Amino acid sequence: MSEEMRRISEVKKAQRQKAQEGSTNLNGEQIFFRSCNTCHPSGRQGMGPALDQLATHFPDDQALKAFIRKGKNMMPPQPPSVINDQELDNLVDYLRDLKFD
Ligand code: HEC
Repeated sequence: MSEEMRRISEVKKAQRQKAQEGSTNLNGEQIFFRSCNTCHPSGRQGMGPALDQLATHFPDDQALKAFIRKGKNMMPPQPPSVINDQELDNLVDYLRDLKFD
């Protein structure tokens, strides 16, 4: 393979990997551990509050999603470039299923 062909092939490979990374839909647990667990360890109180009152504070999924997207005070916002819409759905399902006993 010529040097030119090799370089083109390398670039295509890198682009493919990048596209795949962008489209990877992490599941709710993966997202939670990546982006939330440091402050809400296993949904319990850490730097952030325990997440055991979501049914009361955010009965509606849309409101919960909006809160996560926007963040609040010390809680960082989570734009679609960090958590895509599918992943946000997965995350909300995961949050709704957290057990506190
Ligand atoms: C840097 C720490 C930090 C990270 C990371 C973080 N949070 Fe928070 N979170 C907080 C703090 C602090 C609050 C309280 C905000 C306030 O009311 O001032 C909070 C509040 C919340 C609330 C509101 C709880 C309630 O019952 O009112 C929810 C829901 C929540 N966080 C979910 C998440 C999710 C989901 C993630 C991951 C995408 C996340 N947080 C990541 C710090 C964090």
